[in-house]
Amino acid sequence: MASDLETCSLLRTLAASKPSGRFLELGTGTGLATIWIASGLDENSSLISIDNKESLMNVATKYINDSKIEFILGDAYEWIKNYQGKKFDFIFADAMPGKYDLFEETIDMLNEGGFYIIDDMLPRPNWPLGHDEKVKYLTNKLEDRNDLVVTQLNWSTGIMIAVKK
Ligand SMILES: C[S@@+](CC[C@H](N)C(=O)[O-])C[C@H]1O[C@@H](n2cnc3c(N)ncnc32)[C@H](O)[C@@H]1O
Repeated sequence: MASDLETCSLLRTLAASKPSGRFLELGTGTGLATIWIASGLDENSSLISIDNKESLMNVATKYINDSKIEFILGDAYEWIKNYQGKKFDFIFADAMPGKYDLFEETIDMLNEGGFYIIDDMLPRPNWPLGHDEKVKYLTNKLEDRNDLVVTQLNWSTGIMIAVKK
């Protein structure tokens, strides 16, 4: 489940391009990508990372101690639907909510110039039946939006980077 290290490195590099940025990770897991993203942040940036699985979140909070990061244990579907705070400069959408579900709502949370990043877009032998169709559908949705500038990288696990116009 944890992100590929090449992806993590890319996340850190892109994170460093947003000084004083507001960052969001949907799907903390054990915090691997969280710590990579955090290592690209400057002192004035902040990162919210959310996951609904307590056992995984416990690993992340045990090993990551950084006042710039707010960990939220909760359902990202509810969190996205109820969010009324400031927009983000960087969203790593690494869970169903924010990626295959509530996509539009998540893109609405992006500032102009903000990054929306997803991984795991290249076919894998362990994909469940029908997942390739979901990937195609999401890829088209990203490409079709006039307010996003999108690049697809056939690298690492398959990355899509979109910037909000
Ligand atoms: C691919 S893993 C995240 C991996 C992590 N970003 C990393 O790079 O190490 C997806 C995560 O999404 C979480 N998740 C799934 N459904 C969720 C939901 N409704 N709300 C919050 N988190 C959810 C899972 O518990 C899992 O930890």
